[in-house]
Amino acid sequence: MKSLTDVYTFYNGSTIPCVGYGTWRTPDGDVARESVKQAILAGYRHIDTAAVYRNEVSVGQGIAEGLAAAGLKREDLFVTTKIWCDKKGYESTKVEIQACLDRLGLTYVDLLLIHWPIATAEKAEDAWIKNNNETWRAMEEAVDEGKVRNIGLSNFLPRHIEALDCRIKPVSDQLEIHPGYLQEEAVSYCKEHGIVVQAWSPLGSGVVLGDPFLNELAAKYGKSVAQLCVRFCLQYGVNPLPKSVHADRILANTEVFDFEISEEDFEAIRKMPQLGFSGNDPDGNLPF
Ligand code: A2P
Repeated sequence: MKSLTDVYTFYNGSTIPCVGYGTWRTPDGDVARESVKQAILAGYRHIDTAAVYRNEVSVGQGIAEGLAAAGLKREDLFVTTKIWCDKKGYESTKVEIQACLDRLGLTYVDLLLIHWPIATAEKAEDAWIKNNNETWRAMEEAVDEGKVRNIGLSNFLPRHIEALDCRIKPVSDQLEIHPGYLQEEAVSYCKEHGIVVQAWSPLGSGVVLGDPFLNELAAKYGKSVAQLCVRFCLQYGVNPLPKSVHADRILANTEVFDFEISEEDFEAIRKMPQLGFSGNDPDGNLPF
């Protein structure tokens, strides 16, 4: 990858810009609107949100303002949102897809994900399997209807993916990935099955940024730890979605194309002990 507008290609031929702008924990209102606008002006062409972030309305406003300010068209931007657990099921997902579009002020999204494979309430009697399949069927129909260009998954481990009945195969799986938490088994599975892996919290939600080893390494390249983390994801072959609400950091997190992590340093990062795991468990043991 050589620039922000370089892409990963899905199995269906659609493409996704190699670095996206994340909005998890971005407060709704002016902060979300302004930071999304700043991200578009900084060159991001890929914005990631979710219904459960409760900021889709402001993110949508930021998209409209950013596109206008940058002189771009809707089709120049890749937008993702996600169906949260409380809306799983065929009928409720159909309604929720239109509600997401209405909140975002868009006629389509480029990518729609099932946000979590198993909610705590879905653990009993494997209810999650039926719920995910019904949700997926509604998402497939949204592709047929043109409301959604691509459909994928988030936080699905291989066994959750195996349990999904698909007419349209998922294009992507968005997982927690950052130095100190690489999910190598799930990443290998996705790569073997032609599923593009996206990395949420590529900066470990900020927690890994103080790590002494990463700081030493970043200094060696004349980069910040945040830039090292984003670059690491690209060399790992995954699609990072760094989040910041500050214009200087939004821009800095894109300056990752003028250096390369050596094979030796890449391996050293790969072998780091676990660091910065959010504690959010795809198997439904969620701390919230
Ligand atoms: P802020 O939004 O105040 O800039 P992740 O993308 O892994 O979820 O990490 C996001 C966290 O990292 C946020 O707390 C964000 O804070 C912080 N962050 C993002 N970019 C940088 C940066 N370049 N330097 C320091 N902290 C950053």
